[in-house]
Amino acid sequence: MFDLKNKVVLITGGSQGIGAKVIEFLLKENVKHIANLDVAEKAGIAQQNELNKKYTNKVKFYKCDVSNEEQLMSAYQMILDEQGYIDIVINNAGIANDSKEKYKKEIEINFLAVTTSTLKAMEIMRKDEGGNGGIVLNISSAAALCQDELLPIYAGTKSGILQFSNCIGMPRYYSRTGVRVLTLCYGGTESHIFSDFDTIDKTFLNHFNEVIVKVFPPQKVESAASALIEVLKNGESGSTWMSANNKPALDITPTVKKAYGILSEAYTSLYADSFEKVS
Ligand SMILES: NC(=O)c1ccc[n+]([C@@H]2O[C@H](COP(=O)([O-])OP(=O)(O)OC[C@H]3O[C@@H](n4cnc5c(N)ncnc54)[C@H](O)[C@@H]3O)[C@@H](O)[C@H]2O)c1
Repeated sequence: MFDLKNKVVLITGGSQGIGAKVIEFLLKENVKHIANLDVAEKAGIAQQNELNKKYTNKVKFYKCDVSNEEQLMSAYQMILDEQGYIDIVINNAGIANDSKEKYKKEIEINFLAVTTSTLKAMEIMRKDEGGNGGIVLNISSAAALCQDELLPIYAGTKSGILQFSNCIGMPRYYSRTGVRVLTLCYGGTESHIFSDFDTIDKTFLNHFNEVIVKVFPPQKVESAASALIEVLKNGESGSTWMSANNKPALDITPTVKKAYGILSEAYTSLYADSFEKVS
């Protein structure tokens, strides 16, 4: 089991919701420092000041829009300058807004920024280029596993995270980089995400509010955060985990591998023996 003690952690979107609870739980694991990169300045500073009363200077808020590459890279640099290293990166910031006005921003925050941050983290941590190894944990969603009409663009970004993180966490990366890349999918969880929630077609928004939320009530933020700690400690590189319905974190890697195995057949079957020669 991986020991979180004395680790330097970078988390995005830690001012509110699941990320805020993750920060609290990481402090209980005796990490050395947590840098929270978020746009929610008031909440982020209040949280920083409150937590630092008990955990002296362990939490630092960085006002940063993760979809702005300059701001993201500059925050990385400030943390490196101050702490010397980053051991764990949790790409958690996300929005669920498929409206005409917000969908491009949603893609930038949910997928592009996660990709950029993962590549930057790997550049710092990879053992074959002088780093000490580390962990990148990317937050996906049940929306990446299910097909439905509610949030096609959000689902696309979360599927992108799943596939990107699984592939860049594969053994032939990990054996050289020493960076465990993990994916955690959440089911509905009580958080601020629903205050800026919107869909392409309002019919599905009504259905979500009137039916889905009642049938699948959101889990507590504590369940989501404790699942994340479990995944950091025990997840193998390239693995995928699920946290929903207040249940402990579930390793769903075999299911995801099986599903991609079936999907791959649609392609590989057309090449008969060729894939065996290159694998
Ligand atoms: N809550 C759920 O039901 C649920 C389900 C599946 C997946 N998720 C995922 O969990 C993650 C955390 O979401 P949450 O539910 O805690 O939502 P939340 O809205 O409570 O928290 C998200 C945080 O991200 C920050 N953020 C938003 N845009 C940002 C930006 N451009 N730059 C930096 N920070 C930004 C917000 O200020 C906020 O602090 C997201 O990736 C979300 O997609 C949530």
